[in-house]
Amino acid sequence: MKSEEGLEKDFLEMAGEIISSDEFIKMKKYKQHIHGNTYDHSVRVAYLCYRHCIKHKSKVNVGELVRGALLHDYFLYDLHGEDSNVSGIVHGYTHPSRALENAIRAYPDLSPTERDAIRRHMFPLTPIPPRTRCGWLVCYYDKIAALEEYFGKNVGRVKKKNCY
Ligand SMILES: [Fe+2]
Ligand SMILES: [Fe+2]
Repeated sequence: MKSEEGLEKDFLEMAGEIISSDEFIKMKKYKQHIHGNTYDHSVRVAYLCYRHCIKHKSKVNVGELVRGALLHDYFLYDLHGEDSNVSGIVHGYTHPSRALENAIRAYPDLSPTERDAIRRHMFPLTPIPPRTRCGWLVCYYDKIAALEEYFGKNVGRVKKKNCY
């Protein structure tokens, strides 16, 4: 098993193209779960999924898992911003579809597995569960990361140094 630092380095290499894109970087401005922002949250969810997969030698396509996880909250607006006209409850139900639309626009080759991970990550709030193992991992680690953020723990933590 690689060191945490080795895992983080490999993960950041895999995630590099998306997390350094202009649209993705905009998510740093969008507040998420009291502490942190949507950028850090998405990177954290993707890293937790990646780490799980490597640790448990999960039979999933790691590239698809990381891409689906990175884009699961790609809704691209600030829910808490002054000009937001979406309530938190409505957002909970609608943002997976919005994220999927934006993700397909930016990455038209998105696979069915990646689409499943994005569309179904809010289960059980949204009633249809994921159909893929990747989808379940994103759904699970999204909740873990959200809980950490509510309590101000590990916010934005993937890196030890400023890797991204
Ligand atoms: Fe979400
Ligand atoms: Fe999320």
